[in-house]
Amino acid sequence: MEGGGMRKVSSHTSMADAAAAADFDLSQLLDKPRLKIERQRSFDDRSMSEFSLSGNVRGIDGYDSVFSPGGMRSVLDTPLSSARNSFEPHPMVAEAWEALRRSLVYFRGQPVGTIAAYDHASEEVLNYDQVFVRDFVPSALAFLMNGETDIVKNFLLRTVQIQSWEKRIDRFKLGEGAMPASFKVLHDPARGVDTIVADFGESAIGRVAPVDSGFWWIILLRAYTKSTGDLSLAERPDCQKCMKLILTLCLSEGFDTFPTLLCADGCSMIDRRMGIYGYPIEIQALFFMALRCALTMLKHDSEGKDCIERIVQRLHALSYHMRSYFWLDFQQLNVIYRYKTEEYSHTAVNKFNVIPDSIPDWVFDFMPSRGGYFIGNVSPARMDFRWFALGNFVAILSSLATPEQSMAIMDLIEERWEELVGEMPLKICHPAIESHEWRIVTGCDPKNTRWSYHNGGSWPVLLWLLTAACIKTGRPQIARRAIDLAESRLLKDGWPEYYDGKLGRYIGKQARKFQTWSIAGYLVAKMMLEDPSNLGMVSLEEDKAMKPMLRRSASWTC
Ligand code: GLC
Repeated sequence: MEGGGMRKVSSHTSMADAAAAADFDLSQLLDKPRLKIERQRSFDDRSMSEFSLSGNVRGIDGYDSVFSPGGMRSVLDTPLSSARNSFEPHPMVAEAWEALRRSLVYFRGQPVGTIAAYDHASEEVLNYDQVFVRDFVPSALAFLMNGETDIVKNFLLRTVQIQSWEKRIDRFKLGEGAMPASFKVLHDPARGVDTIVADFGESAIGRVAPVDSGFWWIILLRAYTKSTGDLSLAERPDCQKCMKLILTLCLSEGFDTFPTLLCADGCSMIDRRMGIYGYPIEIQALFFMALRCALTMLKHDSEGKDCIERIVQRLHALSYHMRSYFWLDFQQLNVIYRYKTEEYSHTAVNKFNVIPDSIPDWVFDFMPSRGGYFIGNVSPARMDFRWFALGNFVAILSSLATPEQSMAIMDLIEERWEELVGEMPLKICHPAIESHEWRIVTGCDPKNTRWSYHNGGSWPVLLWLLTAACIKTGRPQIARRAIDLAESRLLKDGWPEYYDGKLGRYIGKQARKFQTWSIAGYLVAKMMLEDPSNLGMVSLEEDKAMKPMLRRSASWTC
């Protein structure tokens, strides 16, 4: 990074507004002394307009006013978050920290991650004794918010090393940039050595590569940099290379006609067949966020410059595509409902030839007059109208959603509270697929029966994403309501991985207990609500340079 120094920047209006709104609402809601909020400790997420496509790319030195709550702390210390509070923490917070610390995994004496679930009662461990990249993100955020940064750094560096291994499935060599879904530390007490085994999809059920892992890695690197102010980690040659390798996998030219990323089913948090093949919203939103995060961290040397230019171009195309074709609200649903089909040529309005008869009945009732969301998938003659939580929240956090779209996504949550939040936040997707469709789409998966697991189950981990989105859109009261629901059950139920049923009332059929990301997700949600400026670690401001939405039929020439 040019100069490598810190830069003073002006505060963000929307971030400041959100924090102000959060501050206001919180003090009313909690009826406690007003929280003291460090207003501006974020660095400016630079506008893409500052990166000229015609060369002359300027350096990034945008880390300022970084947050370091109390400096380094041992991973065994009491949580800073509860000590810092001006009011009594919920008793669950201490229990959660204890459980989170129990899940720590050490490699050669250093903490490098957290195990997916610490469930002794479960006979079947499967791979829940591993450190999953995606599962570690909420743990990492909790540690960062608590000033425990070493474990996050260790994790980031360990996974960079794992990335450099040669990866094969049978006789097929995987792309260099692929990141593991998970890894496991093997301790040999006799020889006193620790070794690591990793899974890039070659052991995973279904043998699917985790497309989300690399994106989460980049997002976490930025969260670390932002939270600690330690630029040296992101600037290390191995970290720079890691980012470029991950993005090279996604930015290479091929036969694509869309800027979205083509994926196999089960390539993300939903890691079993669930009909999300194609262009799943979860991956597109994470892709967008990772691209924007990388843009703030990549060095402007000769190699970096080329990558940066490709990122900028892709971001423009991707945001246009997503905002135009994935967005659904009452008006747009009505437009699709009246679509003509078989339109040839670039003037087509129904570009993907979606047949209105393929719109499922439920969506007409589900769609409120106020509200909207990014649908699950868009590809030729196929729109997956299901609502997916993670993709929509990441769209808000990354500012893939315009401010109006972000508000509409939150409106929808309020309007459809029973369906999406019910008794346990939060539905992974809505609605469930049933009967014949379930047979065809999941391949008769007994774990993904209707309203269970990935098929309309409720996942407490999603609470942190909901909370972050609530704070960003200035609606902390929604997060408060959701956290209250979680607090009434989570600890008592032993931190389940997921809940089942239309309202999420039942502990999931095969849910693990002491699922780490359920624990960490709760802690992150609590800490963000207590101190909304924590949001900066996982949020990017809107980029004004992003092209405004154009009329559908105009995109051919733009
Ligand atoms: C399950 C989930 C996946 C998670 C893993 C470890 O496979 O589907 O999202 O990463 O468990 O918790």
